[in-house]
Amino acid sequence: MVASWNPSTWRAKVAQQMPSFPDQAVLNEVEQQLAGYPPLVFAGEARELTQKLGDVAEGRAFLLQGGDCAEAFADFTADKIRDTLRVILQMAVVLTFGSGMPVVKLGRIAGQFAKPRSAPDETVDGVTLPAYRGDIVNGLAFEAGQRAPDPRRQLQAYSQAAATLNLLRAFTQGGYASLDRVQAWNLGFVSNSPEGERYRDMADRITESLAFMRACGITDANNPEILRTSFYTSHEALLLGFEQAMTRVDSTSGRWYDTSAHLLWIGDRTRQLDGAHVEFCRGIANPLGLKCGPTMTAEDLLRLCDLLNPDNRPGRLTLIARMGHEKVERHLPPLIRAIEREGRKVVWACDPMHGNTIKAGSGYKTRPFDRILSEVRSFFAIHKAEGTHAGGVHLEMTGQDVTECLGGAQAITEAGLSDRYHTYCDPRLNAQQSLELAFLMARALKEERELVRVAS
Ligand code: PEP
Ligand code: CO
Repeated sequence: MVASWNPSTWRAKVAQQMPSFPDQAVLNEVEQQLAGYPPLVFAGEARELTQKLGDVAEGRAFLLQGGDCAEAFADFTADKIRDTLRVILQMAVVLTFGSGMPVVKLGRIAGQFAKPRSAPDETVDGVTLPAYRGDIVNGLAFEAGQRAPDPRRQLQAYSQAAATLNLLRAFTQGGYASLDRVQAWNLGFVSNSPEGERYRDMADRITESLAFMRACGITDANNPEILRTSFYTSHEALLLGFEQAMTRVDSTSGRWYDTSAHLLWIGDRTRQLDGAHVEFCRGIANPLGLKCGPTMTAEDLLRLCDLLNPDNRPGRLTLIARMGHEKVERHLPPLIRAIEREGRKVVWACDPMHGNTIKAGSGYKTRPFDRILSEVRSFFAIHKAEGTHAGGVHLEMTGQDVTECLGGAQAITEAGLSDRYHTYCDPRLNAQQSLELAFLMARALKEERELVRVAS
């Protein structure tokens, strides 16, 4: 017997990683206010995303999910949103060409504010304050006033998410995302990257394909798809009071949707079977992500699938493996085999970021590009060996020229990390590193297709 669900049943469960708000009355007031605000996304859009992810689960599409580790109130400009979108669009064109499949574009954006932390407090020079949990909860500065969780921040997060989404909708529907334009940016990347010549061949072939389409009469005048694109939003469903306030019944289907984003995911630290986060997510009809770190057992994974996707609908559940480059070979295959043995329909995505974080000698948290690449390569190789579809990637990235991850064609060194290290939380790939990764993945996808063709 499945226990009954409503948007508040999570409150009877143990919730990890949630802040303790000093003033319950203010919190209640904020949650009530949010519950009356308009939805940020619509149920029909979330259903459309589920359908597209269903294609990924069936091996007919590829998922590109990426964006900030943590969005920030102080770093909120049109340029920043545009630059992140631009890199995702550029990567998507390259991956579409490489995979020969539609690419589902999903941002970690317009709501990615709440962060789980390894410790509840932070101590500096003998002073202990609550850890920073993302701008929706408290401030990054190490000051008592900033670190005290403040519920009113949720209203600002809502406004920022709404304005971000508004701009994303305008960019993706208003011609900015036109294929020709995106390809022109890619050519710019190839000519400017120190290792760009390695990617020239693929970039030229994309240009040729576009010229061929044009010659056949497929133009943006008669095919608006060339000018417009679908773009979806996602974030970690961590701050459950906020998520509950954004959850509404959809009048078309009569089902509950969390209208704060199209897709919500459960983090690796909040995926307890009997925990509040799993309880909340099981009842919303949005597509869901589930982070799977090296401690995930096959047994727990199957039980989580039972709870989160009892009807085994393809597209409902995306498993985001974040094992670490040294662990993926050992930990991923048993999970894939369990899923296959039980006939579960899931999307498999690779998050090569969260298992590959190290502390540089200088004290900066960083991620070596080589290790990120190595985990992605292993992910593709493992799926090839298991006969399953390497469905997508999940990246922490930005369109800015930051210096947060080591290596890449620009060869960012430990000493160079301090130049432009701007992240509020985890180190992100910069625009160049992201595109480089896309070209390398596209090559792997293309080789895979060629092998399949030879074999059949
Ligand atoms: C994240 O995606 O920012 C995150 C905290 O990941 P994970 O839950 O996999 O550690
Ligand atoms: Co992160």
